[in-house]
Amino acid sequence: MSKISQAEYDVAIIGAGAAGMMAAIEAGRRGRSVLLIDHADTPGEKIRISGGGRCNFTNTRTTHANFISQNPHFCKSALTRYTPTDFIKWVNAKNIAWHEKTLGQLFCDGPSIQIINMLTEHCEHANVETCLSTSVERVEKTDDRFRLLTSEGPVVTSSLVIATGGKSIPKMGATDFAYRIADQFGLNIVTTRPALVPFTFGTELLEQTKPLSGISADAEIRCNGTSFREALLFTHRGISGPSILQISSYWREGDEIEINLTPDINLYEDLKAGRQKNGKLAPHTVMATHLPKRLAEWVTKRAHVPEKFGDLSDKHLKALAGGAQQWRVKPVGSEGYRTAEVTLGGIDTNDLSSKTMEAKSVSGLYFIGEAVDVTGWLGGYNFQWAWSSGWAAGQVI
Ligand code: FDA
Repeated sequence: MSKISQAEYDVAIIGAGAAGMMAAIEAGRRGRSVLLIDHADTPGEKIRISGGGRCNFTNTRTTHANFISQNPHFCKSALTRYTPTDFIKWVNAKNIAWHEKTLGQLFCDGPSIQIINMLTEHCEHANVETCLSTSVERVEKTDDRFRLLTSEGPVVTSSLVIATGGKSIPKMGATDFAYRIADQFGLNIVTTRPALVPFTFGTELLEQTKPLSGISADAEIRCNGTSFREALLFTHRGISGPSILQISSYWREGDEIEINLTPDINLYEDLKAGRQKNGKLAPHTVMATHLPKRLAEWVTKRAHVPEKFGDLSDKHLKALAGGAQQWRVKPVGSEGYRTAEVTLGGIDTNDLSSKTMEAKSVSGLYFIGEAVDVTGWLGGYNFQWAWSSGWAAGQVI
């Protein structure tokens, strides 16, 4: 027997992730008959693993400036109509405990599953019919409807919402479904690439940095006119950590990034001022007052300076400070979709209504969430976009 109970629905939503569940709840609450389809056997898998298992579900400082898109204004309408405060109200109403970690980032105190449970409960109350382990083989448009051929049989729907996310982490079931449907209906796609992703180093650089693997430092990273100040982590493949994930969204193949490992101070002036007092110390010991010990030794070794700090010339101090504050690195690549948290690019916002997420040229067809060319920074922004864009579509479908 088919898992799908009706032959016709007002709304079919493909993708039971963050955006799809939000759209389903809102449409269901408006009394629409809603079918929510996912090929996975559980909904919201990315919510479950997000935020290290604690789901960074929103960011209280969200504005359009925290998103990357060919049209930076597109996300404004949805983000201002369904805000972080609106989502926090839902979370509070379910007594889900949360805390602000840093920079407006809100995380659950307990496991992320609480957010999934909240959304699935809302779906049930809104009479959403959720159909998991179901694939969609074909989508066709009739005059005023869509006909879907699913693994559970055919379904007809007035509104079709594509909420299948981006390409990140194919192992978890990510597919290019949204882009294929966009292409089928003649919508443009802004070139996609992995974002919020660690960098990999070439063999030579990796040989040098491998001993640092596991070390983390507060750092400011610059690339293409943008900078982020957060933790950097040396890995056995290159570098990662929040600051690196952030800058990866602005980096392109062949670009150098500039790393400042002591962003709070003018290191050269600081070292110069302490040269007399610390004259008898080894330079790496002095550097270790500013950096983790092993990193201090590594930076010092690369600067090729004399063994006693008091013997360092101004030029030596400049080399030492420059090595820590203007370290220019050229990653060979990134870890790709295998580990990227999001996909940059996607359905061209020029082809969508910013108020409803409906395709301008195909009435009844909607794209929401990560599939759209709206990509947030690290820190809860991507979920906020999923909630806001899902909510916006949910008001009209
Ligand atoms: P999402 O990917 O959530 O959902 C898409 C759904 O569609 C999935 O259920 C999938 O199974 C289904 N699907 C895909 N193809 C299909 C097909 N062909 N047929 C049927 N179903 C299909 N963001 C944030 O704000 N805070 C955080 O803490 C984190 N943490 C984080 C950690 C990790 C490891 C990752 C990979 C990502 C994050 N993110 C994040 C990003 C965040 O998870 C992401 O932006 C949102 O989940 C996007 O929501 P969507 O609903 O658009 O897609």
